Amino acid sequence: VERLVALSRHNEIVKEAERRVQQAKEKMDSTYRLAYHIMAPVHWMNDPNGLIQWNGEYHVFYQFHPDSPKWGPMHWGHVKSKDFVHWERAPIALAPSEWYDEGGCFSGSAVNDHGVLTLIYTGNVWLNEEQTELKQYQCLATSKDGIHFEKDPANPVLSEPPFDCQGHIRDPKVWKRGEDWYMVLGTREGNNGKVVLYKSKDLRHWEYVNILAQSDGSLGYMWECPDVFRLNGKDILLFSPQGIEPVGDRFQNLHQTGYLVGTLDEETGKLTHGAFEELDKGFDFYAAQTFEDERGRRILFGWMDMWESPMPTQEHGWAGALTIPRLLELTDDEKLLMKPVPELQLLREEHTHLESISVKQHEATYTVPVEGDRLELLVRFSLTDFRGNAFGVKVRCSSDGSEETIFRYDTGDSVVTFDRNRSGRGEGGIRRAVLDGSKTDLITFHLFIDRSSVELFVNDGRLVMTGRIYPSETSQGIELFTEGGDATVFSVDAWKLKDIW
Ligand code: FRU
Repeated sequence: VERLVALSRHNEIVKEAERRVQQAKEKMDSTYRLAYHIMAPVHWMNDPNGLIQWNGEYHVFYQFHPDSPKWGPMHWGHVKSKDFVHWERAPIALAPSEWYDEGGCFSGSAVNDHGVLTLIYTGNVWLNEEQTELKQYQCLATSKDGIHFEKDPANPVLSEPPFDCQGHIRDPKVWKRGEDWYMVLGTREGNNGKVVLYKSKDLRHWEYVNILAQSDGSLGYMWECPDVFRLNGKDILLFSPQGIEPVGDRFQNLHQTGYLVGTLDEETGKLTHGAFEELDKGFDFYAAQTFEDERGRRILFGWMDMWESPMPTQEHGWAGALTIPRLLELTDDEKLLMKPVPELQLLREEHTHLESISVKQHEATYTVPVEGDRLELLVRFSLTDFRGNAFGVKVRCSSDGSEETIFRYDTGDSVVTFDRNRSGRGEGGIRRAVLDGSKTDLITFHLFIDRSSVELFVNDGRLVMTGRIYPSETSQGIELFTEGGDATVFSVDAWKLKDIW
C-alpha cells in the first residue's frame, strides 16, 4: 500500500509539473532556440543524465527545472530517439516527491538491470533555509516501459558517506563488469575533490571500496559528475572538477571538465593515472556523461553552458542545452578524441562544395557563398605552400561587419583560437589551445553552427572547442581570411541543417 501511495503521489506531481510546462511554453521567446540540439521544452536545464540505449532506443535525461529559467528544485527531463537526430519528448521522469529527494533529484546515470530500465540518482535534501547545508542520498527508480518511473522501495540505497564530505557526495555513474555492479560518486574532503568507488551485487546494497582518484591540491575543491569507462585497453576517469586555477591558456573557465587515463584495479579500487587534461577547450562544456551503445561505441553528451555564466535566453524564458552527441576514441598517445556521431549527417539538407579557393591577404576576406544560422561547415586548409602566419574562418558575420565569431589557426605555434568578442550578446572572450599530435599538412575545421551555439572539431576531434554565442538573427555570413600571406583553401563543404524541433 505504501508503495502504491508513493507511486501515485509521484505520478500526480509529474502531471501537475507537465501542465505548468505546457502553459509556460506559450510565453517563451524562441529567437535563440536551437534547431538540432537537445533543450528543455521551456525553462532551465543543466547536466545530461541517465544516458542509455535501451531496447534499441537512445534515452537522454537531463537536469530540469520546470518552473523557471533559473536553477531550482531539480527534476529529470526526458527525450528519446532512434537515430540521435529525431528526438521525441517524454514526460518528466523524476520529480522530488520523497523525504530523501525533497530538495531535488540531482544527476545520475542509467543501467539495464535484467530488462528493467534503472535510474540511479542523487536525492538532495537541504538542511537549512539558506540552502548552504545539505545531505545527499543515492537512490534508484525503475521502469518497465521506459517512460514511467517508480522510485524504489529500498531508497535511499546509500545514505552515509565514507568520510566527512560536508554533505557533498553525488552524481552516481554505474556500470557492470562481470557479475558486479560498480558505482563512482563525486565528492570532496576539505577543499580537495575526490571520486569514490562502490561495489554491489544487486544495485541495492553497496559496499565502499576506495578513493578511486583525488586532487593533489591543484585539481579543484569538488569533483562532480564522474564517469569511468574503458577505451583502447585503458581506463578513463572523466569528471568535472570545480575551481581549478587558470595556468596560461589552460583552465580558463570557472569550472572544468576533463579526464585522467590509466589503469583501474577493481580489487583495491585505485586508478593509477597520468596528468589531467581538459576535454573541450572552448567556453561552454560541463558535466559531460558517456554511455556505450549497442554497437559498442562510447558516446558523450555535455551540458553546453557553464555555471555562473550570463545566459541571455533566461529573459526569453529558457536556458541550457546539450552538445551534439560525440563519439569518443582514445589515441595510442592517450588523448581522448571527440567526433560528431556519423548519424548527424541525417540533418544535412542543401550542400555546397568549393575547391582550391585562393584567399588573398590584401583582400582581407573571402566570402563563402553560403549563409545560415544552422550549418555544418568543413573547411580544409592546406599548409603546404602557405607562408603566412595565420588563417581561419569567421561565422555568423553581419553584413555591416559589426558581428563575427572567429576561429583561427596560427602556423607559428599551432594555436587554435576561438574569439567571441564580437559575437553579439552574452559574454565575450577568447579561448586558445595548442593543436598537438601528428604533424600534418592539412588543417580541418569541422563546425556545427546552430542559432546560439558553435562547436568546432579540429583535425578529426584532436581539439574541440564549444561555445554559446548570441548574434543577431540576421548575422549569417561566412568568411575565410589569412594573415601575412596568401592561402589556398583546399576545400569548403557547407550543409544547411534541419530544424528538428
Ligand atoms: C553539475 C551538478 C551536479 C549536480 C547537478 C545539480 O552541474 O552540480 O553535481 O548533481 O548539477 O543540478
